[in-house]
Amino acid sequence: MGYAGNVEPQYIVPTVAGFKASQGGLEGKRDGLEDLDFYMGNDALKHSTTHQISYPIRHGLIEDWDNMERMWQQCLFKYLRCEPEEHHVMLTEPPLNTPENREYTAEIMFETFGVPGLYIAVQAVLALAASWSAKSVAERTLTGTVIDAGDGVTHIIPVAEGYVIGSCIKHIPLAGRDITQFIMEMLRDRKEPIPPEDLLDAARRIKEQHCYCAPDLAKEYSKYDKDPRKFFRMYTGKRKNGVEYSADVGYERFLGPEMFFSPEIVSSDFLTPLPQVVDEAILKCPIDSRRGLYKNIVLSGGSTMFKDFGRRLQRDIKRRADTRMEANRLITMKAGLKEVVQASAIEVNVIGHALQRYAVWFGGSLVASGPEFYRVCCTKAQYDEEGPRIARHNPVFTAQF
Ligand SMILES: Nc1ncnc2c1ncn2[C@@H]1O[C@H](COP(=O)(O)OP(=O)(O)OP(=O)(O)O)[C@@H](O)[C@H]1O
Ligand SMILES: [Mg+2]
Repeated sequence: MGYAGNVEPQYIVPTVAGFKASQGGLEGKRDGLEDLDFYMGNDALKHSTTHQISYPIRHGLIEDWDNMERMWQQCLFKYLRCEPEEHHVMLTEPPLNTPENREYTAEIMFETFGVPGLYIAVQAVLALAASWSAKSVAERTLTGTVIDAGDGVTHIIPVAEGYVIGSCIKHIPLAGRDITQFIMEMLRDRKEPIPPEDLLDAARRIKEQHCYCAPDLAKEYSKYDKDPRKFFRMYTGKRKNGVEYSADVGYERFLGPEMFFSPEIVSSDFLTPLPQVVDEAILKCPIDSRRGLYKNIVLSGGSTMFKDFGRRLQRDIKRRADTRMEANRLITMKAGLKEVVQASAIEVNVIGHALQRYAVWFGGSLVASGPEFYRVCCTKAQYDEEGPRIARHNPVFTAQF
């Protein structure tokens, strides 16, 4: 959460609520005391012995509306310290959110909090908008393929002119957490002197600080073996008693992120490399949108942050597309159709930018501080006139920045 116009969110709070089991609905609880019985984020987790823990959002969809409302209340009053009557609000939704969820969200925002305007934006579309920061005005488009790799899951989401092509979304059940796990196992197998209670955290830090994507595994191994001092790293941590320890960081630097390109390294269930999944997702899309989708593959989320991730992805997708073109060319030639005009090569671009870690949030910040925002918002007056149904409309903003 944060205010429009900023480049990074002001607060990042896990969507966890902790509440006293005796607590009823929200009615009759408006005396200000309910605050004492409700915690959110890490505070909630700290009170997990005395409070019941709820994750109001599951798989990106709100399931526990009472606790979601309590969380929004804290977001607005406790964290952002704003008068909601004075601010238009932007929320985001995953692709394939239901119209009922949009209605319910609007009801809470307009009736409980009295906001003057609301826009519920699709996360992938905001991720495309975030990439405008890396482009000239003429190149700013809302057609592209978003690769969102977070902690638990990786999504591939094709978007054409601001609309998600829902039937062509793909997901991969591998993401940051799996890489952390893999690195943890390597450190453990090598018996690095890391205290067991620190291992998970150390593995995550090593991943975030030292990992990168290599173009070729065999060559990378031989580089390390030839000149270990140049490529090995040292990780230093502190034990509970304050004494420092250190551990070597080796091949996991490139083997961790290689998971996206050679999933068999960590998984026995899911074996399709990310570039292939992206390629197949785009090929499933309507033929007239495909070139635009290859041309603008946009990165979003923490697990796309590895150095050279975009470069490797681009190369591998391009290779697949070129190989297919060449095969098609041979087929047409063999069939004696020489005079058929050959299609031009497919342009493949993978776009990363400085703010891709929080791309969705940053895209939202950009759109909400731009001239289009008030046009796409649903207003309180409209809501009062038409009721929650109004929230089913989802106007698309355009690039005018
Ligand atoms: N610089 C970095 N390099 C590599 N990985 C990183 C970096 N910074 C964060 N991460 C990883 O990104 C993941 C978190 O990303 P993100 O915040 O996009 O996920 P999320 O939205 O919370 O999860 P999900 O989308 O799966 O629900 C974690 O696994 C974290 O370790
Ligand atoms: Mg995410």
